[in-house]
Amino acid sequence: MIREARVFAGAHLLTRGVAEESARAIADAIAARGRCSVCLSGGATPKSLYEFWARDYASRIPWAQIDFFWGDERYVPHDDPRSNYRMARETLLTRVEVPQANIHPVPTNAATPEAAAREYEAVMRKIFGGGAPELDLMFLGLGPEGHTASLFPGSPALGEKQSWVVAAEAPAEPRRRITMTFPAINRARNIFFLVEGEKKREIVRTIRREPEGDSSPYPAARVRSAGRVVWFLDQAAAFD
Ligand code: 6PG
Repeated sequence: MIREARVFAGAHLLTRGVAEESARAIADAIAARGRCSVCLSGGATPKSLYEFWARDYASRIPWAQIDFFWGDERYVPHDDPRSNYRMARETLLTRVEVPQANIHPVPTNAATPEAAAREYEAVMRKIFGGGAPELDLMFLGLGPEGHTASLFPGSPALGEKQSWVVAAEAPAEPRRRITMTFPAINRARNIFFLVEGEKKREIVRTIRREPEGDSSPYPAARVRSAGRVVWFLDQAAAFD
């Protein structure tokens, strides 16, 4: 089920489009609540958005009023080339005026992925006041087999109903992961999927045919929100 999609002729236009719509969602959150919580995705696709934001939106977004989180992380040190935190730091967070106190990386220096997940959830519960983790804007990617964040097909994490963050296993290195769960993801006010490239066309077509709900074998098809779920696609990934 894809209720709302934006299709762009190419990756650069997709980047501009999602940057503009994200800036509006951020402005709306700050107007309503004085602050905004943004949950970043890892992988390769969002890098161009983060770089574009740093270049063209450095003075157009009130970065000091944003708290940054990660929807998932690899259980590697923060300076590891595979770290989602490192990618966001290099492409965005060291290039805009955001206080370090606003940046909440997954504590991958914890003794185990399970401990990192528990610690991260405690950070989130403190910031969200123990209530629901209503992230204002959450970016998600899509894997070719339908995973999103680090929620992979067949994973026990798909059935998690209480915890907001759990340890998870990926089918390929780096296998040990920490990921937000559907109790956290599906409370986000705005969920923007960023998907581009011919390799994603088949899985996008599959997700589109999937019924909404918790039964799909494709984790990305289980994502929904009381707010908006918008799929930002380039022509190469978009359905016919
Ligand atoms: C990660 C991401 C992951 C990613 C998808 C798509 O840690 O790798 O969170 O879920 O979004 O695998 O990755 P690409 O954007 O590189 O295709």
